[in-house]
Amino acid sequence: MDPKKYPNVTVMDHPLIQHKISILRDVGTGAKEFRELVKELAMLMAYEATRDFQLAETTVTTPLVETSTYVLAGKKVAVIPILRAGLGMVDGILELLPAAKVGHVGLYRDPETLKPVEYYCKLPEDINERDVLIVDPMLATGGSASAAIEFLQARGATSVKLLVLIAAPEGIEEVVKSCDNVHIYACAVDSHLNSHGYIVPGLGDAGDRLFGTK
Ligand code: PRP
Ligand code: URA
Repeated sequence: MDPKKYPNVTVMDHPLIQHKISILRDVGTGAKEFRELVKELAMLMAYEATRDFQLAETTVTTPLVETSTYVLAGKKVAVIPILRAGLGMVDGILELLPAAKVGHVGLYRDPETLKPVEYYCKLPEDINERDVLIVDPMLATGGSASAAIEFLQARGATSVKLLVLIAAPEGIEEVVKSCDNVHIYACAVDSHLNSHGYIVPGLGDAGDRLFGTK
């Protein structure tokens, strides 16, 4: 990804992330390990995606002296998983941001049209005042993520970040084209989509691998 062409896309190529993504891709990785890896990767991603959070100066008394220091002072956070695979990323983020509220957007991709179909939505009431982290392991055609972003922006969310584990170039292109004011974080950008809309090489169906449904 050329950062000049895509200033709002961050590919997180940290060695720990690349190592964990490799195990996640492996067809031999079972549901338990898959879930653990998704959680760990989400936590590592949250570390990077919160880099621009605001701080305020304060003082603290150490066992030795009083000193000035910093604490988080910006907006509160909302984590919004796109159901169902996004659920796997929530706990990792909450370990770093335990005060965050969690909203849910239920979307599934129609297997024929590949278009997102909405079936559930429950958001924190003050979503317009929060930094919003939308989470979903896979960004394929970009239809689900774009629909979720538009949905949240229509409800007043102004600070929106999208955290995905694996993205297809087609999905990034779609979100960049159809959504304003969103930053995308991905652990990997893969080669392409196949004729069924699956990311290649990818990791298969993230929801099925998380929940053992296939
Ligand atoms: C997967 C994935 C994304 C979506 C990505 O969900 O978790 O939400 O597909 O595809 P897109 O970029 O082409 O929209 P899926 O629809 O399989 O539902 P699930 O999470 O319930 O398995
Ligand atoms: N959804 C998935 O779970 N995997 C893909 O490769 C594409 C969409």
